[in-house]
Amino acid sequence: MTIACSHNPNTIDEKVDNLLSQMTLDEKIGQLVQYNGFWDATGPIPQESNTKKKYEDVKQGLVGSVLNVYGTAQVRKLQEIAVTQSRLGIPLIFGMDVIHGYKTAFPVPIAEAASWNMQTIEQAARISAIEASAAGINWTFAPMLDVSRDPRWGRVMEGAGEDPYLTAQVGIAKIKGFQGTDLSHEQSIAACAKHFAGYGFPIAGRDYNTVDVSMVTLYNDILPPFKAAVDNNVATVMNAFNVLNGVPCTGNTMLVRNILKHTWNFKGFVVSDWGSIMELATHGYARDRAHAAQIAIEAGCDMDMESYAYRNDLKPLVENGTIPESLIDDAVRRILRIKFELGLFDNPYKYCDSVREKTILHATDFSKEALQSALEAIVLLKNDNSLLPLSKNQKHIAVIGALANDKDSPIGNWRAQALPSSAVSVLEGLAKYTSNITYVQGAVLNTNPAGFTHKVSINETDKSGFAEAIAVAKKSEVVVMVLGENCFQSGEARSRSDIGLPGVQQELLEAVYAVNKNIVLILMNGRPLTIPWAGAHVPAILETWQLGSQSGNAIAQVLFGDFNPQGKLPMSFPRSVGQIPLYYNHLNTGRPAGFNRVFWSHYTDIENTPLYSFGHGLSYTTFAYSNLEITPKKNGEYTITARITNTGTRVGTETPQLYIRDIVASVVRPVKELKGFTKVTLKPNESKTIEFVLTDAELGFYTETGAFTVEPGEFEIMIGSGSDAILLRSILVLK
Ligand code: NOJ
Repeated sequence: MTIACSHNPNTIDEKVDNLLSQMTLDEKIGQLVQYNGFWDATGPIPQESNTKKKYEDVKQGLVGSVLNVYGTAQVRKLQEIAVTQSRLGIPLIFGMDVIHGYKTAFPVPIAEAASWNMQTIEQAARISAIEASAAGINWTFAPMLDVSRDPRWGRVMEGAGEDPYLTAQVGIAKIKGFQGTDLSHEQSIAACAKHFAGYGFPIAGRDYNTVDVSMVTLYNDILPPFKAAVDNNVATVMNAFNVLNGVPCTGNTMLVRNILKHTWNFKGFVVSDWGSIMELATHGYARDRAHAAQIAIEAGCDMDMESYAYRNDLKPLVENGTIPESLIDDAVRRILRIKFELGLFDNPYKYCDSVREKTILHATDFSKEALQSALEAIVLLKNDNSLLPLSKNQKHIAVIGALANDKDSPIGNWRAQALPSSAVSVLEGLAKYTSNITYVQGAVLNTNPAGFTHKVSINETDKSGFAEAIAVAKKSEVVVMVLGENCFQSGEARSRSDIGLPGVQQELLEAVYAVNKNIVLILMNGRPLTIPWAGAHVPAILETWQLGSQSGNAIAQVLFGDFNPQGKLPMSFPRSVGQIPLYYNHLNTGRPAGFNRVFWSHYTDIENTPLYSFGHGLSYTTFAYSNLEITPKKNGEYTITARITNTGTRVGTETPQLYIRDIVASVVRPVKELKGFTKVTLKPNESKTIEFVLTDAELGFYTETGAFTVEPGEFEIMIGSGSDAILLRSILVLK
């Protein structure tokens, strides 16, 4: 390979080539090495990990990046070693999982997705970047774009749910927020689309488990959010841990080198997941670490996170001719290009300004934005007899449930540098409205479990608090029960086989219901739960996820009607674990409902449908849909319009959703596919016309070879307030 060497390099590519031409093989490989920092580990610590050696390697120019080092003092210290003591002074790039905020905690990603508001999501990512960049971070391992149909998988907390279209839109919003309009701005950080690909489909919902999906599912459901991320200039991509078609993703040439880098023309770099190069051997795909290094670099993985495989094994592989140096050069180029784009060569300390750090992290208040995100994420699942909103003159409210008094769980998992127990609790939020509250924990909290479990978890057996809860509920007009998961029951490595209310909470709910049916159930959780009993009995249910720093204030505003809920589910809530995987965009099968009285695709003991479907979410007002019109194709676009009217008595925001069904196709298409959504705020009796646009991009699909095709024929056009609440239908004929 010829290296273009310029004496006065102008473009970033010229600068990259100029620098590359001066690098030894050791220094090149060094750029491909990423070490974890010195305090926090977000994966299993490898045997080779040695703090002294890490510093030494930075000094020798043998490290390209570190993760989990933060704070301007620490970042500067390390950056100074790289810049002033290594031969070429190439700056490090500092990565971290800034997933839903850095210091200010925004709602966990599945909750953010429930807002269906891309401006709000982008703003949260922007603020996360402003805070993280002030603390020395210039690269976040987000957004997670793994579509998932399995709420047993704890990482659904970190994604945007079950739909590829919504996930793609959320991904684009987050990339824009993190990266800003100019990556070289001191408040921009590089984003990372992860995990490439299929990680959200682990068999039986067990994290890191095998994935077995068809190519049609891969191309139509798993890859589109990543393609959208690449089309929107995401700087980096992370390999997934899992196998795909029998080949682990970190060593998957078809996926990374062919689809991502060749077909999609991705110019950024690919980082392995933590230890995933070494795990090629554990999978049974590589003989040993050196073989794993060879497979990974050949497949297109540019940076090794914590496997020590590139660090130790790449050089001999190049020297003995097993792999060409051009492969290393390509990876180095990609990494250097992002460092140049971030402006790190112009000023390696641009993220190390301690004054900015103090001003942003200690004197700038983003609680208004965090509150708005939290408000928009809340989903009203059920509201029989308009129990909600509560009257502000309510005589006496019983608040029951340990999570009501928990200031930590609302911050969620992957919390970066949010201070422990810094969220507004539900009790604190309610206290701003009324003092007529009696709080009872009901289910006892564990305060000090060991290891990775969190200090606040629901005790599995202790019912000693039940009697008091029942006594207080008896005397109260209304009972607000705050039940669900603590923040470390979802997230990475937190799969659950039973996704009901953990511990004794279900029993507590039923015991309280026996004495007072006027219950508002506030769910706090990082994933859909199975709550069939609550769905059948409890009159009002609010899904509040883990809402971040402003959680309690947002919940109180919704409870008392100062904010009209507008969230919509990004993932279906099954009735039972036995229905999983359960998703709205399924195929029709040859024997759908109505086919036959006995011989149709169903369970004998439960309905096929979820308890609450994708797209579901109520409001304190009501909306009517009318006048669906499809205008003839013009400039390659069909315009679809409909009229939405607020038929209730309060101002409200609705999220009309556009679904299509390709009725006959050469590859069977789902019964519904989301292809557009919008938000519309209406006063009582007010109407507005909403508009969607459909082009070939939405009407086409991928075949099993990955070819995109648009087939003429009939498409059903559906508009509704949820995937199970289609209110308008028509047929579009594509010629
Ligand atoms: C493993 C996780 O899968 C990944 O998402 C994360 O970014 C890395 N650890 C680094 O913490």
